[in-house]
Amino acid sequence: MRVLGIESSCDETGVALYDGQQGLLADVLYSQSDMHNEYGGVVPELASRDHIRRVLPLIKDVLSKAKLSEASIDAIAYTRGPGLMGALLVGSCIAKALAFGWNIPLIGVHHMEGHLLAPMLEDNPPAFPFVALLVSGGHTQLIEVRNIGDYHLLGESLDDAAGEAFDKAASMLGLSYPGGPQIALRANNGDPQRFTFPRPMTDRPGLDFSFSGLKTFTLNTVNTHKQKNTLDEQTINDIARAFEEAVVDTLIIKASRALKQTGLKRLVIAGGVSANKRLRDSLTRRMSQHNIEVCYPRLTFCTDNGAMIAYAGHCRLVAGQRDEESLHPMPRWSLESLSKI
Ligand code: KG4
Ligand code: ZN
Repeated sequence: MRVLGIESSCDETGVALYDGQQGLLADVLYSQSDMHNEYGGVVPELASRDHIRRVLPLIKDVLSKAKLSEASIDAIAYTRGPGLMGALLVGSCIAKALAFGWNIPLIGVHHMEGHLLAPMLEDNPPAFPFVALLVSGGHTQLIEVRNIGDYHLLGESLDDAAGEAFDKAASMLGLSYPGGPQIALRANNGDPQRFTFPRPMTDRPGLDFSFSGLKTFTLNTVNTHKQKNTLDEQTINDIARAFEEAVVDTLIIKASRALKQTGLKRLVIAGGVSANKRLRDSLTRRMSQHNIEVCYPRLTFCTDNGAMIAYAGHCRLVAGQRDEESLHPMPRWSLESLSKI
């Protein structure tokens, strides 16, 4: 089965074609980050308008890249949620209209299931079961994954998501949006000894996260230097380094606990923050000492993309699942509520 995947939950329009036999045939992406950068974060109304502009040209683009016509598409998968309502509506309207016009089946995909399954597109896909650390702009979750749709939430952020914390810390430091890659860049030239930031909620048992205290600590540090007029380039690098190390350490501590608690020996990391090199390197090093296999998507599939939606949709479609045309987008949607396949 050949599935067209459409992602439009936030500020990236992603389109891809996935074939059950041949794998990923083509994928294209348009990122709106330059447009939102001017405002310091995603402006939902602008995001929706831009998805409308991009989505059809991207669908034409993906077909031309794959050297296929629309007649070769067997089904459509689109991001049903969670995400920004207006942005989701664009993908869902286009997907429904095309499925109706082409008379083919349709499936609405959970965005985080897309992220979670993105490593399956790699050459050595992880086998079930595993622990997934999902770290994106909207979510920070540890999930016990027994199979597709068999998800048990082990812990999650009680406030900001890890990606959101990166974005806010970057904004405090005067860095551009999205903040994660900017913090990572500055952290490379930062002195790891100069500041020590807290590792929130690691001193007590449990698998939940909280990043608001770390955010306040970062803000106070930035403000102290602003008041003293000492927020120079090196200080920005040093704060970025301390912040990044604190987030990475916190994620590793909690992921290790989740593995211990479940007794599982495999860890999947996905979502935008999984593109962070320090996180990838540190996790791989730490987990190899405990014989834990660590799997990530390729860098371009850590952040939002159409390929993960096409793949997740394909898995459910081949299992016989279909969506009614009347289904509405789900801006909030629990991963645990999904059906097993
Ligand atoms: O998964 P994603 O593309 O969108 C959501 O579903 O939210 O994640 C975007 C988030 C942003 O907060 C961005 O700052 C963060 O991922 N991010 C990173 C890196 N690349 C993207 N955070 C840390 N280091 C990175 N290299
Ligand atoms: Zn995402």
